[in-house]
Amino acid sequence: MADDRASDSSWEFHWGDSSFDEAADGVPGDAPSVLVTDPARTAAASVIDVGKVYRTATEEVNALLDVSKVFPRGRITAIAGPSGSGKSSLLRILACVDRPSSGTVLVEGRDVATLRVRQRRALRRASVSYMFQNPIDNLVDYLPAREQVRLASRLRGIRTGAEEIERLLRVLGLDHRLRHTPHQLSGGEQQRLAAACAVIGHPAIVIADEPTAELDSAAADRVLEAFRDLRAEGVAFVISSHDPRVVAIADHLLRLDHGRVVESN
Ligand SMILES: Nc1ncnc2c1ncn2[C@@H]1O[C@H](COP(=O)(O)OP(=O)(O)OP(=O)(O)O)[C@@H](O)[C@H]1O
Ligand SMILES: [Mg+2]
Repeated sequence: MADDRASDSSWEFHWGDSSFDEAADGVPGDAPSVLVTDPARTAAASVIDVGKVYRTATEEVNALLDVSKVFPRGRITAIAGPSGSGKSSLLRILACVDRPSSGTVLVEGRDVATLRVRQRRALRRASVSYMFQNPIDNLVDYLPAREQVRLASRLRGIRTGAEEIERLLRVLGLDHRLRHTPHQLSGGEQQRLAAACAVIGHPAIVIADEPTAELDSAAADRVLEAFRDLRAEGVAFVISSHDPRVVAIADHLLRLDHGRVVESN
């Protein structure tokens, strides 16, 4: 099913195994029950003192150094910074597909490192959505818009009625495109449909790595408007971008430079 429904990479990212799962597992055992009201634990997700070191044959790259941030529900957090500053590295760690070299990642209050492989996979399916830069990579080739959203919901383990799906597509200005397949949609429409698929089924966090980079200015504006409208769905959006308009629509900002936090609000 995976092979014919999506490109391998996107399928793996959304629903399948990850390098995180293949690596030696963290501390086994159930996640500790959480009774505290620490904002880091009650938020959709948080990173605490996260570091990431990539080791190649010849060198070590410190991609992230002591990065901390809380990602609240119903808010957009922009991750900004120049090329190579660590944005994608942070997003992959937050999406639980890569592990930090140090520090803690909490998703819905659960310390990701304490989860068994299956628990982590289940957490990812239920609570984390990831949007790729190229809109078409987020969608299944042959499915009409409405069915894309229905499939995304089922893969999250939730059945969503036609009414709810149509409401969501109406919010995104896609109600006249319900039966269109991805190739019958513009790039901006594809990315808005991808946003619908990302928020359906109430994940905690939607992570988007430069989601407007492939779009022209007008289409990018509509996609950003869509993210703003979707805040009411109660999801934490974390969006990386070079585009100052992303920072402009965000509620919070995390700016990185050479892996360090240089601005956070
Ligand atoms: N798998 C890897 N192995 C070694 N180094 C890596 C690896 N992935 C990323 N890096 C390095 O880590 C640093 C941060 O990379 P990252 O992709 O997170 O940056 P970015 O902010 O997303 O950049 P861009 O805006 O160009 O997408 C860069 O110096 C990069 O070369
Ligand atoms: Mg990047």
